[in-house]
Amino acid sequence: MARRVKVASVNQLRADTGLSVEVEGRVIALFQVDGKVCGIDEHCPHAGGPLGAGHLTGDVVMCPWHGWRFRVTDGIWVDAPKAGTKVACYNVTVDGDDIWVEVTW
Ligand code: FES
Repeated sequence: MARRVKVASVNQLRADTGLSVEVEGRVIALFQVDGKVCGIDEHCPHAGGPLGAGHLTGDVVMCPWHGWRFRVTDGIWVDAPKAGTKVACYNVTVDGDDIWVEVTW
């Protein structure tokens, strides 16, 4: 059964990069885009690079290890969208200054 877990505060987020948080055994990279907070899997599907430490431009984060780029709103690998490669996205909600992630695992 899904439930919400508080993982961070909005004031911890930066405009140009992500924030990596651990949620019950998973690491999720949070980003703020146009006032909305998005959550994707921390681990880059190329070789496991830390997406939460990547540079954010608009709604796209660049993996700091080899430069693969992912859209944080839907997890799509924007360098080759037809390849079907993507990172998992998580349901994130904001309540006041608190950021919550829906845990389904
Ligand atoms: S590990 Fe992310 S681009 Fe290589």
